[in-house]
Amino acid sequence: MISRFNNYNLTHHNTFGLPASCDFFVEYDSVPDFQAFLRENPDFAQTPHFHIGGGSNLVFTDHYRGTILHSAIKGKEVNESADDVLIKVGAGEDWDGFVEWCVEHGYYGLENLSFIPGEVGASAVQNIGAYGVEAGDFIVEVEAVCLSTGELQTFDVQACKYAYRHSVFKAELSGKYAVTHVVFRLSKVFKPNYTYGALQATMVAKGIDAPTAQQLRAAVIEIRNAKLPHPSVLGSAGSFFMNPVVDEAMFLDIQKAYPQIPHYAAPQGVKISAGWLIEQCGWKGKRVGNVGVYDKQALVLVNYGGASGKDVKDLSLRIVADVKEKFGIELRPEANFI
Ligand code: EPU
Repeated sequence: MISRFNNYNLTHHNTFGLPASCDFFVEYDSVPDFQAFLRENPDFAQTPHFHIGGGSNLVFTDHYRGTILHSAIKGKEVNESADDVLIKVGAGEDWDGFVEWCVEHGYYGLENLSFIPGEVGASAVQNIGAYGVEAGDFIVEVEAVCLSTGELQTFDVQACKYAYRHSVFKAELSGKYAVTHVVFRLSKVFKPNYTYGALQATMVAKGIDAPTAQQLRAAVIEIRNAKLPHPSVLGSAGSFFMNPVVDEAMFLDIQKAYPQIPHYAAPQGVKISAGWLIEQCGWKGKRVGNVGVYDKQALVLVNYGGASGKDVKDLSLRIVADVKEKFGIELRPEANFI
């Protein structure tokens, strides 16, 4: 089925709760229906369009003059073998509902990605990550429809080019494909991964030394609840900026002045905590009109109610400028401005 709306309100399609609308909103719940829509609209790929998921990484700055696409493709197809399982999931499934279902069914690997807002399709575009795990670590292939030809194509994990919060669908193929299904390989044998500082500390505090998958999921949910605002309570897009990666020489320079700077090894240098950089600039917990920097995690910008996308953008630019001036590092948003 295809649902089409004109002049559509997007306020409930972004977790920031920003007021926005679009000329056209098109939602589809199967691949053949979406292909039929593209056949009826052969120039669609040449017209302004943007594909959303759960809207948990979006900042709408204006009315969108074009079509917003949304997948409502649901369903899970399970293919079990002795030790592992392949699960093909519809792009429109709720991400955390999927993770919860996996834990309940004894399919392991995604526990650390519990409670992340958003949908399965976006997880494969954004390569969502938390507590030492990224979605791309478990993705086998991604099925996507080409918006110009209507052809359904399969991308194996190499073709997806996963890196930190990055994939081919965000880069060279941006705006060209609609992800319809994602295939994950999960294990039937549980191997807990709780080396990430905050997760390990929670396990120690609870006196748990061999957590079950349910306990690991519960700990992740507890940490996220303590550090990140829930979209139903306070609008936000989770981490607003990515953690910057700088070269070794630059890192050592900054570390000389700030020996306590939190950092991690990264493929192209040293990853620095953006939340810490923002906190050092005095922004943590600050409010500017209807927007502000969350008091429990400086990487999160929040909407106290009534904010516009421009308010969020202006605040983010002030933060970027201050971090640049103090540390010489240019923060890049993880959130997408539309
Ligand atoms: N820190 C501060 N001040 C702050 C926030 C963080 O000093 O206000 C320092 C602390 O030293 C802390 C360290 O930064 O120990 C790391 O903080 P945290 O564990 O909260 O993680 P993060 O690097 O700020 C990233 C992801 C989150 C993910 C967590 C856990 C990005 C952009 N963000 O945040 O992802 O949940 O790690 O793995 O990589 C998201 O992408 O929306 C998101 C929430």
